[in-house]
Amino acid sequence: MSQPAAIHLADYQAPAWQVLETRLTFELEPSATRVTTVLTLECNPDAAIGSDATPPLVLNGEHLTLERVSVDGRVLASDEFTISETHLTLDGLPARCELETVVVIDPAANTALEGLYVSSGMFCTQCEAEGFRRITYYPDRPDVMSVFTTTVIGDKAHYPILLSNGNPVERGELEGGRHFVTWQDPHLKPCYLFALVAGDLVKHADSFTTMSGRDVALEIWVEPENLDKTQHAMTSLKASMKWDEEVYGREYDLDIFMIVAVNDFNMGAMENKGLNIFNSSCVLANHDTATDAAFQRVEGVVAHEYFHNWSGNRVTCRDWFQLSLKEGFTVYRDQSFSADMNSAPVKRIEDVAMLRTAQFAEDAGPTAHPVRPASYIEISNFYTLTIYEKGSEVVRMVANLLGKEAFRRGSDLYFAQNDGRAATIEDFISAMSEASGRDFTQFMRWYAQAGTPEVAASGVFDATAKTYTLTLRQTTAPTPGQNEKLPLVIPVRMGLVSADGHDLPLVLEGASLGSESVLELTEAEQSFVFTGIEHAPVPSLLRGFSAPVKLGFDYSREQLAFLMQHDSDGFNRWECGQRLALAALEDLMAAFQRGDKQAHLDERLLAAYRFLLTGEPTDRAVLAEMLTLPSEAYIAEQQAVVDVDAIHWARKTAKAQLATVLREEFVALYHANEQQGEYAPTFEQMARRSLKNAALSYLMGIEDKEGMRLAQAQLAAAHNMTDVRAALTLLVHSSRTELGNPALKAFAERWSHDPLVMDQWFAIQVTRPQADVLDRVRFLMEHPAFSLTNPNKVRALIGTFAGQNRVNFHRIDGEGYRLLADVVIELNRLNPDIAARIITPLTRFKRFDAARQALMKTELERIRNEKLSRNVYEVVEKALA
Ligand code: PHE
Ligand code: ZN
Repeated sequence: MSQPAAIHLADYQAPAWQVLETRLTFELEPSATRVTTVLTLECNPDAAIGSDATPPLVLNGEHLTLERVSVDGRVLASDEFTISETHLTLDGLPARCELETVVVIDPAANTALEGLYVSSGMFCTQCEAEGFRRITYYPDRPDVMSVFTTTVIGDKAHYPILLSNGNPVERGELEGGRHFVTWQDPHLKPCYLFALVAGDLVKHADSFTTMSGRDVALEIWVEPENLDKTQHAMTSLKASMKWDEEVYGREYDLDIFMIVAVNDFNMGAMENKGLNIFNSSCVLANHDTATDAAFQRVEGVVAHEYFHNWSGNRVTCRDWFQLSLKEGFTVYRDQSFSADMNSAPVKRIEDVAMLRTAQFAEDAGPTAHPVRPASYIEISNFYTLTIYEKGSEVVRMVANLLGKEAFRRGSDLYFAQNDGRAATIEDFISAMSEASGRDFTQFMRWYAQAGTPEVAASGVFDATAKTYTLTLRQTTAPTPGQNEKLPLVIPVRMGLVSADGHDLPLVLEGASLGSESVLELTEAEQSFVFTGIEHAPVPSLLRGFSAPVKLGFDYSREQLAFLMQHDSDGFNRWECGQRLALAALEDLMAAFQRGDKQAHLDERLLAAYRFLLTGEPTDRAVLAEMLTLPSEAYIAEQQAVVDVDAIHWARKTAKAQLATVLREEFVALYHANEQQGEYAPTFEQMARRSLKNAALSYLMGIEDKEGMRLAQAQLAAAHNMTDVRAALTLLVHSSRTELGNPALKAFAERWSHDPLVMDQWFAIQVTRPQADVLDRVRFLMEHPAFSLTNPNKVRALIGTFAGQNRVNFHRIDGEGYRLLADVVIELNRLNPDIAARIITPLTRFKRFDAARQALMKTELERIRNEKLSRNVYEVVEKALA
């Protein structure tokens, strides 16, 4: 087999042909759907060769059975075009013509879930990034934009509902029990935003009046049994529409906006114009079936997809290298929205925690890439944390550097200049620059350079001169294919905290900056001399996580405990608590490695916890975050060589010692946050539940009698899934299998009809820390509720095990690795996209000891011997390079 080739940003060429109009007709049959496509084509004037000769028209198409091609009404003979497994090429076309193709496709056999496929008996599509070529022959690239008219024909009994983008313009009955609906989308769009849905669905309908007074019909389409799980998504949608009007001045632009819930979906959701298609896990929620975290995810994803209507659809991407243009910006928008709807500091803490574990790990691994990659083999592999989350951090820095008003002027200008266009990252930055007068030349390196920058900070107090000199040094370690790194623009928001816990007035080179400042580090090393400082201050650095970097400063543990209590920045209070906890955990890890299992937790961490538990009641949501020790994944990120067993033992031991010493306080915390009254997904209630469940988790960490009793009572009372899941998880993860097993059984009996709840049932079991879990994973893979063709099931069972049960996945006998490789090999045939994602933990072998490295590499090599999809090929080659 020839090896898949890389595609380079530097090779970009404008399309030779435009599609002025696209008319599609689908005759739906699960195993043989006929698609008739009529394209009005026009050769781009600058692409014409000579006076009247046109360049060849090269259309993408895969897994299609061609029945007929005609040009301007004349059917072509088979020697008048060239067809391959991936393309249809026509030569010598008139500069303007109408091309008709008829193809047959097999949606029922489509397990890759790209293009048109069948999920739970309904038809649905997924076209981003390159799925449309599995539907019909087309120039499948985002800079070809067209207006679409789509006629969907299907059996009326099986598919009473027929949906596509835009507005319905015609419908009617046909012979043979069939019917049709024609949809027209007046907005120019690339084919990756095309969507079609057909099935036996019911809707939750509502409406929204836009700022200019237009009424928009809102419809959420689901299987009938899920109609009681749509309210939260509808509420979130209306809030998003309002927020985008108020914060960005963006109004919705069609008469109807639809969301459809689909059970089999590779990603979270998709922003198809006017017809968003959602993974059911990101839209369905009610308090019996979904946790608070799931409610927040629904809110965030609904907003994200809705916001794409402007940042993605009205203004789309010129090519897939610009992916972060829409994704980074849209994540920034949805994060800001969620911060406004909930606790802003907690939202920031969660986003940063995710970035610093998962994205930093990506940056440090074999698939590290810039926010704008220079090349790819398979674009589906580039829907990454770097494109999304780091991309959002880069937009956040732009917003913070410009300030609220200039940023809004910049975004208005960006939308105005690029509406209806396929734009680039330069277009975005140039609008920001034009609106603010700021030069972004050096800043652009954030888009081109991979890897996480490290900023080493040091401070010197001079009592005689009354100065405090802060020195910042930046470096970025080499990443694959990128050895040389240039200095970035790093905004460091900071303050100097006095011994009595107040921010000192900052005077820098004679200028008064107030109590807080943003230092712009632009060189490899810079010093900032603050004057008029009477006593040695404690610096509070990178407030609000003002740049996606690793900040090093040699704090004493006393200083960390002090800042945890006194920093005026909520994010940094949390951050200093985490740093203190990390230091204490590192002591325990060292003890474990010496064989000392009697080691005691640092008193200063105990004191900090006592302060948190007994001090003045602060923001409950933030308190719950502060009472959570750094995750195993985050601790691992801080180590040169990851010792999974030491990390697990240290964390468990720290929790147990905290629970032993502060038992009464945790019991009190539990009771103080027990809820009366109706469940509501408000952040105040959520904060109480997370505090209560955090307390329970500490008590269960020592299998405390009272904790056991509370957990069982909480499970039995079953007021909502958040509490049920927390209690069930703690029981199942305890040593008391005589309690955990019957509870699991009862749960499965109650919920076997609900796939999203069964996903949770899988996840709870495979995160059990005991060594018997691996047999359980293999056993559950045979469970009737499990299916390798359903991405949610694969994520719940395999993804959760490999990603969150670190001690057992990294078993020294290599059985965890073998299990994952077995799954990757099967999925490589069924669903390459999911296969290439689920493999990630194996590709990070360089972070581990030699024995584990060898075992992981053996499994990667075993995978490499298979006939690989492009997706898996790219990841495995990069990992083994
Ligand atoms: N564009 C989608 C989003 O960010 C993600 C997606 C990509 C979904 C590819 C499906 C396939 O919202
Ligand atoms: Zn997106």
